Formats: sequence, C-alpha cells, structure tokens
Amino acid sequence: MPLSANWPDGVGRSVLPQVDSTNAEAARRATQFAGPEWILTLRQTAGRGRRGRAWHDPAGNFAASYLFRPEMPPAEAALYSFVTALALQEALTAATGRADSFALKWPNDVLLHGAKLAGILLESAGPYLTIGIGVNLVGHPDADAGALRPVSLLGETGLRVVPEEFLDLLAPAFARWQTQFTTYGFAPIRSAWLALAARLGETITARTVTDTHEGTFEGINESGALILRGPRGARAIPAADVFF
Ligand code: BTN
Repeated sequence: MPLSANWPDGVGRSVLPQVDSTNAEAARRATQFAGPEWILTLRQTAGRGRRGRAWHDPAGNFAASYLFRPEMPPAEAALYSFVTALALQEALTAATGRADSFALKWPNDVLLHGAKLAGILLESAGPYLTIGIGVNLVGHPDADAGALRPVSLLGETGLRVVPEEFLDLLAPAFARWQTQFTTYGFAPIRSAWLALAARLGETITARTVTDTHEGTFEGINESGALILRGPRGARAIPAADVFF
C-alpha cells in the first residue's frame, strides 16, 4: 500500500493482522534492525501495560509501536514519553477537531474529558527504544479499582477513527515533535507538555513502590520527574502512579 502524503521520510510502516504485542514484535525486530519503523496491529492478543499490567484492546482500538535508535543516553531517551504524549494529543486533535477535550497525565497517559483514553509504554532493548501506544478508539477495558476511569473515543465523542488512519496522523506528528526534541532538547517539550497537563496546581496523590505522597502538582523538572509540594516542601518523584 502506498504511504500517505505526510508519512515521514525514511520511516517504515508495517500493519499486522494480529500479533501478541507490538512491543514484543518490536523487540524481535530489533535483533535485525533495518531502520526506524512503526508497527501497527489490527488485533493484539497479549498487550502489555505499564508496571507489568496487561493491556486489553478490542478490535478497532489502536495498538502500535515505534522502534528506533534514539542515539542518546537512556535517561534522556526516557523523555520520549512526553514527546509521544504531545504527538498523540496533536493526532487526536487532528482526528476530532476537539483540542480542548484532551489533556496529558503524568507520566504518560492521554485523557479525554478527564478519563483515560490512551497509554504509552517505553521499553528498551540495547541501543533501541520501543514506544508502545494504545488508544481506546472504539472500546475500553473495565475500570480497575482506584485507577482512572477508562473511556473510548467513540463512546465519548461518537466519532469513529480507524487505526490505519490514526497512524497516518500520528507518525508525522511524532516526527515533528521528535525533531523539536533532538534539535532544541527537552525545554520546549516540557513547556508544551505542561501547557496541556491535567491537574496542574491541584492536589494529587503519587504512589511509588514504597510510599504515598500527597501534595500540589507544581510541574515536572528537566528530567521529567513530577514535582509535588507537600507540607515539608517540594520533592521530585521520578516514577510513580498518580491518582486524582
Ligand atoms: C499503559 O499501561 O497505560 C500503557 C499501555 C500501552 C499499551 C500499548 S498497545 C501497543 C503497545 N504494545 C503493547 O504490548 N503495549 C503497548
């Protein structure tokens, strides 16, 4: 199939009828890396979520991974989760015309009407990075106790977006934000992300593996860590689950 007019130069595009997990497929392909590539599947049977959780997506949802070689230290490459969130927001806005409906939740979710629409999972294999993206285009899993309510684009807006068409919006948007990041560093990404951040300035709860912190969400630092101001001052939290 010919690539769409805006498809980024030098980037591959694979569409698989079915696969266990596009992130797992990317890890397999990384052993014979032949250049950056988007891998989309129309049916994912063993999707992976953050922190070892399963990611369930019915047919019609978007499940794709971008495999590439970031050419930067791992701590910096981890900031690609913010680059990806911005690209997702841009692609979702292009698909729906509703910029104001979407917000970004630290560290790497996209919200629609305040509920979870999309998740991002970064996994590395040697010098390669896989960015896995799941978007609830038509359906969503049941809510987990305590977690943010999941929603679908179709359920919330009545708009039906097809995964292949969504990829054709996302890939160029990602390429543009990637160029910003590799050219100017994290500063413009951080500003753009904060402009879209959910609950900035509000009281939130961050749960790490060992602790629970409640405080005012003041922003993110130059490493992407969450800045939370509690009774004993501001603290930077590099990894946690956030609850509103
Ligand atoms: C999260 O827990 O919020 C992240 C979910 C990431 C899911 C996507 S779907 C495509 C890619 N392949 C996977 O196995 N997981 C990611």
